Amino acid sequence: MPDREWTRRHAVRSLDRLWPRLQTHFQAEAAAAPEAWAAFESRLHGEWERLFGLLVELYGQHYDFFYHLEQLLLATARSWLDRPAWLKQLDAEREADPLWFQSEQMIGGVLYVDRFSDTLAGLRAHIPYFKELGLTYLHLMPLFESPAGENDGGYAVSSYRHVDPRLGTMEELARLARALHEHGISLVLDFVFNHTSDEHTWARRAQAGDPEYQEFYYLFPDRTMPEAYGRTLREIFPTVRRGSFTYREDMRRWVWTTFNSFQWDLNYSNPAVFRAMAAEMLFLANAGVQILRLDAVAFIWKRMGTSCENLPEAHLIIQAFNALARIAAPALLFKSEAIVHPDDILSYIGPHECQISYNPLLMALLWEALATREVKLLDHSMRTRFRLPPGCAWVNYLRSHDDIGWTFDDADARWEWIDPIGHRTFLNAFYTGRFAGSFARGLPFQENPDTGDARICGTLASLAGLEAAVQAGEEQQIDLAVQRILMLHSIILSIGGIPLIYLGDEVGTLNDYTYVADPAKANDSRWVHRPKTDWARLERRHDPASLEGRIFAGLTRLIRLRKALPALWGGEAEFIESGNPHLFGYIRHRRGQRLLIVANFSEHPQQMDANRLRVYGLSYTFQDLISGQTYVAAEPLRLEPYQFVWLEA
Ligand code: GLC
Ligand code: GLC
Repeated sequence: MPDREWTRRHAVRSLDRLWPRLQTHFQAEAAAAPEAWAAFESRLHGEWERLFGLLVELYGQHYDFFYHLEQLLLATARSWLDRPAWLKQLDAEREADPLWFQSEQMIGGVLYVDRFSDTLAGLRAHIPYFKELGLTYLHLMPLFESPAGENDGGYAVSSYRHVDPRLGTMEELARLARALHEHGISLVLDFVFNHTSDEHTWARRAQAGDPEYQEFYYLFPDRTMPEAYGRTLREIFPTVRRGSFTYREDMRRWVWTTFNSFQWDLNYSNPAVFRAMAAEMLFLANAGVQILRLDAVAFIWKRMGTSCENLPEAHLIIQAFNALARIAAPALLFKSEAIVHPDDILSYIGPHECQISYNPLLMALLWEALATREVKLLDHSMRTRFRLPPGCAWVNYLRSHDDIGWTFDDADARWEWIDPIGHRTFLNAFYTGRFAGSFARGLPFQENPDTGDARICGTLASLAGLEAAVQAGEEQQIDLAVQRILMLHSIILSIGGIPLIYLGDEVGTLNDYTYVADPAKANDSRWVHRPKTDWARLERRHDPASLEGRIFAGLTRLIRLRKALPALWGGEAEFIESGNPHLFGYIRHRRGQRLLIVANFSEHPQQMDANRLRVYGLSYTFQDLISGQTYVAAEPLRLEPYQFVWLEA
């Protein structure tokens, strides 16, 4: 690895050589827009040493490195010059306020366009609904061209530049991005950059025998290499196909396919792939995407003899994309989707890599605590693993379109006297209803016959007990389920970071078992929690007597409350020792406001000592902002089943 001094010297020298060439190339544009050109020059100079260092490390050994470098800069400059004026203005605003996403005003939502409103045009008509919910961030699930039939919910992308024609057009998407922005909502899309579908032009050219495009993927003439790599790989979709490789009869080649057989892994050791995907990234940024969800980040680099997950080069690639974004689309943020071991999750988060990240550990452990009614593993893990570097934020969620995996650290579990393997078996049994007395209705996902490993599918409401309670017609169980749903939301809304709501959860949407009738979905139980929006159900949200109305009113009240509390800005939480195994609590403070937040994970009343209340609350009297009730710290704090309090001194 070249040292810092070498990199600095050669970075300067390379830019001295390249800059005049760029100036010549863009002479006319630079003369027409001198300010834009000057902004580009200054950002390029600011980021150059970092970008150059990363690219040398990744690709410096290629004989044509300098060619790729020049092409990359040309494309980056082109992209900046083409960037619409409103986005350039946004760039300036975000540069002046780089921590905008830490705001307590932030509320995220996620949905599938086709399942919510059929089309992009239809979606636009629902902006008032997003505002009613208080959303400031809207993640639209993959909406680009992808194979008809099985396409992994759009995660098999056939073109990053064409919207699936059934949903609309690229122009409509760009218009929607702007319309959302005018209503204070940032558009979030996926950057599915680990793989393309086997119908992408690059894959088609590879299939036709074009060697240039065959080098875009990992193709092997026989089983030798796949078997050698396979010995240390984890199987991601074992019920789809064993192993990580697919034989293509038409090409007589094995293809690396970490996920489904129609999702071909891109070969980032080829600088042409990096360049091609950088161009797609900047294209999406210029379409008005403000946050890119970096899909499957863990898998983008491979090395023989390793798990081919979380390798150091994966970080270098994302950092290089980050540097390019800073130069040509500085308003853009990256969100990491690394559903891996907690240590590895953290490794992707940083101002120069992914500024924000899903928090799968919190997500999984909230469900863990709900099943066990004990918060010790949740509490221990948050105490040691919640803190992020400055300038970064968690995206806290309860459900996504994917399965729930039990990603806690085994040593954390043992520390709390929990056997990690047995515990995962218990959790899987609990959430698939195989455990006697469980309130949850979920389905197993990708049970691995060799390892016994499995993950969980199901909507938030069904996993929290609403489905079983409604079926049994038991009012008291229904009340408990509603209370669980609100308590879980109260935590993602207050713990620190951006709360992300899976749309449908705001009205308690239940599992949809009809997916099995569709052959393109039947083999993927994740579809059980991706139902089409039931507008009749949504319509009932203003009826306080309905279940939907109770959940919607409870949730939107919490959202409004969050937005009114300066203490909820940012991501720093101080976790308390509640002294009660069922109570999870933390303190949030900022600008003179101090909140003590406590949640009861059991269906029985629980209490916290008055001493602790005084110590953590720094006061004698508190008001619970949720119930309006006043508490005096002369007596223990008593919480009803699944009650949560936000106490202000
Ligand atoms: C549709 C629904 C209505 C809902 C609105 C939200 O018109 O029928 O219930 O409030 O969309 O955007
Ligand atoms: C991510 C997505 C998941 C998809 C996979 C392959 O994990 O969230 O839905 O199956 O990547 O793209």
